[in-house]
Parts: sequence; structure tokens; C-alpha cells
Amino acid sequence: MLKCVYVNGQFLQRRNAMIDVEDRGFNFGDAVYEVIFLNNGILVDEEEHLNRLEYSLSELSIALPKSRRVLSLLIREVIRLNKITNGFVYLQVSRGVAPRDHLIPDNITPSLVIMARSSNLIEKPSIRNGVSVITVPDLRWHRRDIKTTQLIANCLAKSDAVKAGAGEAWMVDENGAITEGSSSNAWIVTTNRELITRPPSSEILNGITRRTIIELAKEERLDFHERGFTTSEALKAAEAFFTSATSLATPVLSIDGQQIGSGKVGPVTKKLQAMYVKFASSA
Ligand code: PDD
Repeated sequence: MLKCVYVNGQFLQRRNAMIDVEDRGFNFGDAVYEVIFLNNGILVDEEEHLNRLEYSLSELSIALPKSRRVLSLLIREVIRLNKITNGFVYLQVSRGVAPRDHLIPDNITPSLVIMARSSNLIEKPSIRNGVSVITVPDLRWHRRDIKTTQLIANCLAKSDAVKAGAGEAWMVDENGAITEGSSSNAWIVTTNRELITRPPSSEILNGITRRTIIELAKEERLDFHERGFTTSEALKAAEAFFTSATSLATPVLSIDGQQIGSGKVGPVTKKLQAMYVKFASSA
């Protein structure tokens, strides 16, 4: 439950928190955000998330609303006020408030919202046991490297997945290649034990969990390849999984109703999951 939130300079009970109806984040999705995994009081990869926040803001010419040090302090205060040790932090910066106009105004003050939610992510059944995935066309714009709040295509994809009894949707580009999940990065392990994920570009979000898993895979000397893969290659994979701050490394047991590998959580996925949980407990 969200009890206390930070909104533009104040820590408030959620019911008292207000956003202006002409906040450009609300009117246009003119806002960026970050989600940070909180594990036993540890903000996992906090620096990397704040780096990406700065990147997203600079790509949209929105000013960083507070210094990095102050942002970190505010995040910790929201966690403390809500008495949360496990879950995630949500941080959103919008361009700010201005009379509704598509023309982007100069020099308005960005709005900052920070929330924290309690959740035992490591114990989530989907992460332990795996889920099925469906594929859907990728309907988004072509600056997916910027973590904006314009997420309607992602929300539609996720909702289609859940309606189909699946846990995530993998989005497919015009060449038949999988871009990423509705809120995660997509991975496969081929029958030759090659670990594959799509390289970062403006077509995907460069996931922070993705980057950490790559480091762990290298540490484990896995045969890692950063390249695109198609739906048909994914269907032939030995294992598949997806990564994000809230799904960690979630095993994929089937894609579009077709079983992947043994249909059980595979050994490479299991190993990377264990390494990631260890990393997240010691960061
Ligand atoms: N989403 N791709 C998309 C489209 C995402 O929305 C996310 C994360 C990721 C994974 O990024 P990271 O590993 O940095 O969490 C990839 C968050 C969790 C969300 O929207 O809730």
C-alpha cells in the first residue's frame, strides 16, 4: 500500500497528494520514470537507474529536478516513512505545468514524484515457477531507449497477454524480430547453450537488470551474444526468460502456446536467477 508519497517538495499522505491537471506528464506523457528494486533495504543498481534517469531527461531537454545526492536522500526518506524493506521505488519527473499546448515550453519547473511499494519480489510465483508469453506487434514510437511514461502500447500488450492467460507480451518489430517485453527485456538460450539478448539501440530500453545479468553471464563464462532474434528462433530455444527491476529474471515456459525446451525452468535461467539474487543482496 502507498501511504506516504513525495510530490514537488512535500512528503504527503497519498490522499492529500495532488498533481496539477495541466501537468505535461498527465496531459502528454511528457515525463520519464525509473523503477528501482529494493531488496532487504538495498536499492539495487541505484546509480545505474539514476544515470538512466539523467539520460532520459537530457534526451528530452528536461532539467534534473534535484541533484543526484538530494534525489538519493528523498528516495530513502520515502522508503523510511513507509517502513519498507522489500519492494520497489517509483520515481517520475515530468516537464512540469504549463497551459496545454503541444509546443514544448521553455524553462518550466519539472515535477517530481517518488513512491515506494512493499512487495516480496524474490518470492513471486511467476519468478520462481515461470510464465507463458505471447507475441504481439510492437506498436511503439522509435525512441524506446528513453524511459517515458507514454506506455499505452505497453499496457495494451500486457493486457492482451493476461487476457490470453500469459504473464508477459514480447513485442515483435516489422522484421519479425523480438524487441522486448511490455515491461522487460527478452532473452533466449539456444540449444547450443548460447545466451542471447538484443543489443541496446533506440528500439529497446537498455534495461539495468539486463546489463547486470550480462555482467553475471560473463563472470560465469556463459557463451553470451548480443544480437537480435526472431519469434521462430525463440520458439526453438532451449530456454527463455525476461528481465526487469520488478520481474528480476522470470523464466518463460511457453511462447504463443508452444512449449520452450523442457517446459520447465532451465538450468541457465536458474543459475542467472541465483546469481542475480546474490548480487541484489550484496550490492
Ligand atoms: N520497466 N523494457 C521495458 C519496456 C521496460 O518497461 C522495462 C522496465 C525494461 C527493463 O528495465 P530494467 O531492467 O531497468 O527494469 C525493459 C519497469 C520495471 C516498469 O515499467 O515498471
